[in-house]
Amino acid sequence: MKVLVTGHDGYIGSLLTRILADDGHEVVGLDTFYFEGCTLGRHKDDSAYIRKDLRDVTPLDLAGFDAVCHLAALSNDPLGDLRPELTYDINHTGSLCLARLAKDVGVTRFVFSSSCSLYGSNDSGHPLTEQARFCPLTPYAESKVELEHDLAAMADDRFSPTYMRNCTAYGVSPKLRGDIVLNNLTAWAFTTGKVKILSDGTPWRPLVHVEDICRAFLAVLNAPRETVHNEAFNIGRDDENYQVRDLAEIVERIVPNCEIEYAGDGSPDPRSYRVDFGKLTRTFPDLELRWTAEKGAHELYEAYRTNGLTREQLEGDPYIRLNRLKRLIREERLDESLRWKPVGVPAALVPVGSMAELIATVGE
Ligand SMILES: NC(=O)c1ccc[n+]([C@@H]2O[C@H](COP(=O)([O-])OP(=O)(O)OC[C@H]3O[C@@H](n4cnc5c(N)ncnc54)[C@H](O)[C@@H]3O)[C@@H](O)[C@H]2O)c1
Repeated sequence: MKVLVTGHDGYIGSLLTRILADDGHEVVGLDTFYFEGCTLGRHKDDSAYIRKDLRDVTPLDLAGFDAVCHLAALSNDPLGDLRPELTYDINHTGSLCLARLAKDVGVTRFVFSSSCSLYGSNDSGHPLTEQARFCPLTPYAESKVELEHDLAAMADDRFSPTYMRNCTAYGVSPKLRGDIVLNNLTAWAFTTGKVKILSDGTPWRPLVHVEDICRAFLAVLNAPRETVHNEAFNIGRDDENYQVRDLAEIVERIVPNCEIEYAGDGSPDPRSYRVDFGKLTRTFPDLELRWTAEKGAHELYEAYRTNGLTREQLEGDPYIRLNRLKRLIREERLDESLRWKPVGVPAALVPVGSMAELIATVGE
């Protein structure tokens, strides 16, 4: 299949392109490169790509693809809180336009990287299946609900969307993120000797390794269309539902000379949910999700040790998505809509009417 992976320069996308290509797919990335150079260690990426904001995609960019794996997004709650309208603009409106254009030019599969965070504070005591009611608590989670809803309305015999409801990822990828729970706890433990918990440790969080998410994407792409047409799948393993304090204990066991510290105000985090992954297992009996949080914490610890991760790096901007975007805005490299500003053209020399056009072309 010829597959376009949006967000291919991100945490999940940078691994997904590799895994799809290794399976024989022809893969092209598309990304605006907010996190260019934010790697842990060296990373060489040979994949073909389009450097573009997804909000500026044209039919020509999409023609000829069999499938789109749509990952590009403002990818967490803190980014959604920065300026909520930007999360809606990129994650919902822009993504919907992309899907419509894709359908118009004949792309038949659209695999959307959704999130279990749309279940919100749904801790009913039972793990939640795909039928559970949505309870999104943040603009980020709402944007996922809205896009799933609108994609479902587009599903027909020409266009098959699939909703990958990933739970919180962990593990090493070429574009590591330090702002997701296990990566973060392990990084704090390694750089400061403290496993820092900001809630009271009781919230439930299902976790899944980044590589296992990519394997699930591959399984969906390779499945017959009728198996995945307009279907949602919770992506993870039943035995990987943890309370945050369980994760802290795992990290405490693995990283030498560290201890747990409750650093927040001790109030419970309202985002808490346990998830049932039975549908994924039943639909893809051959799909092997290989990782556990324990194995992942070992992997992360080794990666941090090998690359000499420092506290300054951890608290800075290479691995914390919000910090990176704030810096790009502060340095006036991104404009207020999170599009790149033209490089090397003093604002005073740009005729007012041509500003938008100039940003769209030079800024990419
Ligand atoms: N990592 C997780 O724990 C997790 C869990 C559930 C769902 N997801 C979803 O999976 C997807 C990928 O997550 P990730 O962790 O790799 O995030 P990431 O932030 O590492 O990567 C997102 C990528 O999208 C790109 N991007 C953002 N806005 C764009 C735009 N307007 N145009 C073009 N490119 C743009 C960024 O430059 C970045 O490379 C996201 O949709 C996220 O919501 C992630």
